[in-house]
Amino acid sequence: MNNELAFVKDMFDRIAPKYDFLNRTLSLWQDTIWRKKMVNAATLKPGSNILDVACGTCDVSIEASSQLKGQAKIYGLDFSFGMLRLGKEKLNKSKNKTISLLNADALNLPFKNKLFDAVFIAFGIRNIMDRQRAIRSFFDVLENGGRLAVLELTTPEKGIFRSIYLFYFQRILPIIGSFFSKHTNAYSYLPESVLKFPGPVEFSKIMKEAGFKDIRFKQMTFGIVTLFIGHK
Ligand SMILES: C[S@@+](CC[C@H](N)C(=O)[O-])C[C@H]1O[C@@H](n2cnc3c(N)ncnc32)[C@H](O)[C@@H]1O
Repeated sequence: MNNELAFVKDMFDRIAPKYDFLNRTLSLWQDTIWRKKMVNAATLKPGSNILDVACGTCDVSIEASSQLKGQAKIYGLDFSFGMLRLGKEKLNKSKNKTISLLNADALNLPFKNKLFDAVFIAFGIRNIMDRQRAIRSFFDVLENGGRLAVLELTTPEKGIFRSIYLFYFQRILPIIGSFFSKHTNAYSYLPESVLKFPGPVEFSKIMKEAGFKDIRFKQMTFGIVTLFIGHK
């Protein structure tokens, strides 16, 4: 594992216990709405096979299972054992039997080709430097007609909201994040990685180059989050 991957993995292992709490508070509970919209946009049918890459504490998997009323087979995959452990606790509490968890790297998916009806990745692709390779492997594991849904934090493009947001994101959020997570770098890494993430048009091109078609993106909450959908 290279240094960058090891840094990200260690960071998530360490912030895992406070991850859900900080997600909810720092986003003012918007994160749950964004995930709902992502799962909904994939227009899944009962009985679907779903892969939730970089599943973390399983919020997307749980949302998909709930929207499909448990009629789905869902795999949640993440390389941080700390995040998966928290996810597993949530699944045990809700007695969810539709979700299986795997400790694996998104760049080496342990699945055969054409297996899934949908691949989701929420707030994960930004942390993967070789995005082209990751998106190509998501394409490979999808059935023909399958959907890739990517949810990612983005930066509002212009206007006064951009300035206010950048002030909050670069100055306030790292202070709150490091106080609660007790991790000095994680919540400074967050704005840095978001600012480096390509704009929606550029990211859509990466999806197109991997083979996806009918690619759409929708900016939400003044552009601080973007949802991308592509079809195989
Ligand atoms: C910001 S969290 C998102 C978690 C979850 N999807 C959500 O909606 O809250 C990013 C997750 O991506 C995982 N991750 C980052 N790079 C990864 C990789 N190369 N392979 C597997 N998981 C990865 C991290 O361990 C972390 O759990």
